[in-house]
Amino acid sequence: MHTQLARDLGLEFPIFAFTHCRDVAAAVSKAGGLGVLGVAGHSVRNLATELDWIENEIGDKPYGVDLLLPAKFAGSDRGGFDADELDARIPEEHKHFLDALLAQHEVPPLPPDTRLPREFSVGYEQQREVIEFVFGRRISLIASALGPPPAWMIERGREAGVKVAALAGTVEHARRHVEAGVDIVIAQGYEAGGHTGLVSTMVLVPEVVDAVAPIPVLAAGGIGSGRQLTAALALGAQGVWAGSVWLTTEEAETHPVVKEKFLEATSSDTIRSRSLTGKPARQLRSAWTEAWEDPETPDPLPMPLQPRLVREARARIERTAHKSAGARNLSNYFVGQIVGSMNDVKSVRSVMEEMVQEYADTMTRLDDWADV
Ligand SMILES: Cc1cc2nc3c(=O)[nH]c(=O)nc-3n(C[C@H](O)[C@H](O)[C@H](O)COP(=O)(O)O)c2cc1C
Repeated sequence: MHTQLARDLGLEFPIFAFTHCRDVAAAVSKAGGLGVLGVAGHSVRNLATELDWIENEIGDKPYGVDLLLPAKFAGSDRGGFDADELDARIPEEHKHFLDALLAQHEVPPLPPDTRLPREFSVGYEQQREVIEFVFGRRISLIASALGPPPAWMIERGREAGVKVAALAGTVEHARRHVEAGVDIVIAQGYEAGGHTGLVSTMVLVPEVVDAVAPIPVLAAGGIGSGRQLTAALALGAQGVWAGSVWLTTEEAETHPVVKEKFLEATSSDTIRSRSLTGKPARQLRSAWTEAWEDPETPDPLPMPLQPRLVREARARIERTAHKSAGARNLSNYFVGQIVGSMNDVKSVRSVMEEMVQEYADTMTRLDDWADV
């Protein structure tokens, strides 16, 4: 498993973990992989606390950060973000639909003065401050999703000795990223949790590996076991990038009701839906996704209007999911098809150790077959 990329980054195992949870990121780095903290929507102040904590926890082990840099972002052309102007563009029809949905499921309103969760997708320029800030930290990798990183980010990466990676759902995306100058392409297949395209990991990874060689490729989407890790390396990837598998670990701050639902779900229980962010994102099926799939329902709005529309509704659902059947039925979160194999709560270290052990066993099995 000592791929060139793993050696370049000083990793014991080429296992990259995307997570919004600092405990998971730190635990992966400590166990020999590379924890990557999703920082979309964080303010610099908040981020300073998170990164201080991670750096303190992992000592001299490497870690990274990930941002959403959407190429298509309603009305902003990667530029400004005027909250009032955006809110004015949300149709009344959508607000009425959402009010009716929550009323139907008897989800109570928020107590007055409740602070809404941070927005996970903000304008391009607003994130520049965050990007500049993270380059001043001890990161080894910065990744971006939903569009190629801007030239200045690539340049700052070069200056700081930080590898710049970008997620690709098609070979065309991958080529665009390489033209932009990325150091690593993350080929993310259809089965992945979160924003995802239509080409499966099995087909996408070798296509991308061939198209961008010698740029190293990480395989993402549907990877959570040692057999899947072995398959990814066999397809030509230099490592794996996993997101869903950490969501049911002991360290993950996944909402307890959602964690329970994940543990019970099968691999058929996810759907690619625009209902949370405005872009197709794989998530657990629930009464929420069913309602948005109904042909009578207004179409989800483009990013960033949809996340603004649903922000308060989502906070209401989360707050009461543990005690209200209606809110529980609606609750869900981003997760990939691998959710069907996420059946026990384990520590991050156990997940990593099991992956590595199963990789070794699989290689032995393949070697035995080769000898016959
Ligand atoms: C809960 C969740 C949130 C995600 N958010 C982001 C994100 O903000 N930025 C990003 O680059 N990828 C995001 N992703 C995608 C992951 O980076 C990764 O590519 C994906 O999870 C890999 O497929 P898997 O879910 O089958 O492991 C997210 C995935 C999940 C499950």
